[in-house]
Amino acid sequence: MIKNHIEEAARVIRAGGLVAFPTETVYGLGADALNPVAVAKIFQLKERPSFDPLIVHIACIDDLERLTTGITTLVRQLADKFWPGPLTMVLPRSALVPDIVTSGLSTVGVRMPENDMALQLIRAAGCPIAAPSANKFGQLSPVSAAHVLKQLPGVDYILDGGLTRVGIESTIVAVEENRCRLLRPGFITPDDIEKALPGRFVISRAKTDQLESPGMLKSHYSPKKPLYLLAPGEKQLPAGSGVILHGDNGNVYDGYQVIHTSHTFNIVETAANLFAALHAMEEDEGVKQIFIQGVNESGLGIAIMDRIKKASYRYQSLTD
Ligand code: TXA
Ligand code: MG
Repeated sequence: MIKNHIEEAARVIRAGGLVAFPTETVYGLGADALNPVAVAKIFQLKERPSFDPLIVHIACIDDLERLTTGITTLVRQLADKFWPGPLTMVLPRSALVPDIVTSGLSTVGVRMPENDMALQLIRAAGCPIAAPSANKFGQLSPVSAAHVLKQLPGVDYILDGGLTRVGIESTIVAVEENRCRLLRPGFITPDDIEKALPGRFVISRAKTDQLESPGMLKSHYSPKKPLYLLAPGEKQLPAGSGVILHGDNGNVYDGYQVIHTSHTFNIVETAANLFAALHAMEEDEGVKQIFIQGVNESGLGIAIMDRIKKASYRYQSLTD
């Protein structure tokens, strides 16, 4: 079930099956994007509502031309700077894209992942691959093949590429004329985009809780145990608590299960290790509830706090 044979996995895609595969962000649950029956299986296996559209993954820029109609100079410049990489562009769709992929929207989200296995799979399959994150709807995103298997044992094939490098999902932007609207914060920040194309872009920075991707629900990315934000200085926790920290700041949590996403408050490390830490706490039978430290909401910290807030939405604080 978990293997690393690209040709075999590509055959599954061509035959209309589902392949979970690594990208640099999280594992995706892929199907032939041009085969609506195959894509329907993604929604079924994930238990994903049909109003939530999928991202289409490509391996060469020609595919962008087949899938979309809105390729402006700015779109090309963004692709030049950030692809392959964790940036999804939402653009007007072409007639080739099945309705089920876009949930009937007039736009389609496209990205070229920066992961050799993913690129090889797309090339070997010979078609663009529609893929959401390979988790059950609303649950933790997978950053290893084992995480995929835990939630989606019914998948036809899991390509094992080890732990993903970035660890949180791509940044999603809607690109319109000379403007770019942030739909989901991710590894690439609005500052990164403005710096890459100085003066060319106005990027709107709606508050993250007002973002308008159909999939931006308040509760998402959640472990199957209560998750609480750790209040600064909070030391007395209930028995059976797991604690996720992002650096060593002298606070000692003796007697609790502790996992560090970083020992030095390195925000890139925290992004890479965030979901793995939450999965480990979810799987640890001794852990009844999880407390997680917050991070500063600037730069990449915005995307990290977006995931933490959504994962802990039902349990923001013990007194709520
Ligand atoms: O890093 C990633 O983006 C990963 C890897 C597998 O590529 N994929 C991922 O997919 O996170 P998913 O389905 O878990 O999240 C995709 C988000 C959803 O919130 C969806 O609503 C939004 O993208 N989306 C997709 N197409 C869209 C469109 N046409 N307009 C607005 N939002 C769109
Ligand atoms: Mg997802």
